[in-house]
Amino acid sequence: MGIRNSEAEYGSLAKALHWLVAIGIFALLYLGIEQSGMERGDEKTYIRFVHGSIATVVLALMTIRIVWRFMGTTPAHPATMPAWQTMTSTLVHWGLYVVVFFQLAAGAMVVATGGKGLPVFGFFSIPLPVAESRDAHEWWEGVHEFMWKPLAALIVLHVLGAIYNHFIVKNDVLKRMTIGVK
Ligand code: HEM
Ligand code: HEM
Repeated sequence: MGIRNSEAEYGSLAKALHWLVAIGIFALLYLGIEQSGMERGDEKTYIRFVHGSIATVVLALMTIRIVWRFMGTTPAHPATMPAWQTMTSTLVHWGLYVVVFFQLAAGAMVVATGGKGLPVFGFFSIPLPVAESRDAHEWWEGVHEFMWKPLAALIVLHVLGAIYNHFIVKNDVLKRMTIGVK
């Protein structure tokens, strides 16, 4: 397996980015939901800080990922896959890219309109050129509190697709994103 994608499988960089981002997003969903049920205080502030820091790293990884994707080929759908499935798969993949970026942008706007920079685990913070505003802050909070639901729904569809292809159709779709195709 080389670093680049081939017609048969994803390369090592695409795989590493896919799985790091997936772990990051599961952590973000967990921490985001966890803090939403908490009273204001040090613990909530701390969880938000960790959530924001992981999110900033995910934003960086997603940016590299999308650039890398356009620099190479993408493995073709299995030739035996019915057209409605290749279409659904393509739609879900692009839906994931769009909704993930939108959720990242909304989170960044929540923080920036609150007058803060994007946190990076206390090492430094990245200021955005966005004015502080109570109204805008609340608006972006509303967006951010909504968008994780369609994102979670897309992830469920995506994982069901992977399970279906691997265990029922028994093709290489999961292997080419994990251990590789012989
Ligand atoms: C794919 C990326 C992200 C996911 C899946 C995600 C998920 C979530 C979830 C589920 C919540 C709880 C929402 C609720 O109360 O119902 C939340 C809250 C929050 N997130 Fe994110 N988030 C992401 C990116 C970001 C980014 C990039 C930042 C900023 C650097 C951020 C900052 C915040 C803040 C400050 C809150 C608390 C404010 C609020 O309740 O709206 N998030 N996030
Ligand atoms: C937050 C979680 C996840 C996100 C955002 C995500 C996103 C994506 C995206 C955007 C692609 C398309 C890559 C491309 O061609 O550019 C992809 C491919 C893939 N993902 Fe995920 N993924 C996630 C979790 C998972 C999980 C948990 C599994 C396994 C159970 C999985 C299995 C796969 C497989 C097998 C492919 C390759 C599909 C193919 O070759 O057609 N993903 N993922």
